[in-house]
Amino acid sequence: MHAQERSLYLALLVTVFVLLGLVVFYTITLIRQQRRNRRLFQEKVAAEIHTLEKERQRLAEDMHDELGPVVAGIKLKLNSIDALSDIDRDTLEKVQENMGQLLGRLKGISNNLMPAVLLKKGLVPAVQALVDEFQGANGMMIHFKAGSLPELPRETRVNLYRICQELLANTLKHAEATEFHLTLTSDDNLVKLLASDNGKGFEQEAAVAKSTSYGMHNLLNRTELMGGQMFLKTSPGRGAQYQFEIPLQFPG
Ligand SMILES: Nc1ncnc2c1ncn2[C@@H]1O[C@H](COP(=O)(O)OP(=O)(O)OP(=O)(O)O)[C@@H](O)[C@H]1O
Ligand SMILES: [Mg+2]
Repeated sequence: MHAQERSLYLALLVTVFVLLGLVVFYTITLIRQQRRNRRLFQEKVAAEIHTLEKERQRLAEDMHDELGPVVAGIKLKLNSIDALSDIDRDTLEKVQENMGQLLGRLKGISNNLMPAVLLKKGLVPAVQALVDEFQGANGMMIHFKAGSLPELPRETRVNLYRICQELLANTLKHAEATEFHLTLTSDDNLVKLLASDNGKGFEQEAAVAKSTSYGMHNLLNRTELMGGQMFLKTSPGRGAQYQFEIPLQFPG
């Protein structure tokens, strides 16, 4: 090989190495950037969910602790009014009835915002209360089974409860199902939530892409927040089967 040829090959080799180096460097930077963006996005979602739940709890407590006693006080005072005429007595009875309904609604809304039973007694009694509330609605039977779960961190309890709420709401709203099964179990490492319905099923990608809906995104975001995984099997006409696996020890 001529000296000239050799230096040409060498130059070519150096150029190839430099180009390769650039490609590797660019790829690593891109991957790092993507990871960073993903981490920032997850942190943003986590902060949003955290703020949302804190605000829900504050509203629930204000309603229960401040508005509730005021309305109950008015109701009691109404009891002590002596109505002079039959018309006044009728009106008084109606107002008392309305006050009772208002008190009931306040408790209901406060409970929807943040169920006291979830914070005081835990996930299983709270989901059981949710199931009891919606049992038979839209002609759908709900079958709930729960194993004994370990003491879960507050955020995990709230996230899993919100997931159950969304699954139940979606099945009631969209599935036209007659049966809905919900199971909560755990082993040493994982909490498992299984949900299935015998309804009309749906196109998963189209459902996630729906710009006007939050439910499916919420399921995914809350699962990721707990370091877990969500598996969904569904297609039109074949119902929907969800499986959530949430690690008990999540380093993040
Ligand atoms: N169990 C189900 N059976 C049939 N279709 C479903 C089921 N769950 C979800 N879907 C479909 O997926 C779509 C997206 O669900 P998603 O929960 O994101 O939105 P949504 O319930 O319509 O609104 P949002 O949850 O924001 O109140 C629904 O509009 C519905 O078409
Ligand atoms: Mg929904």
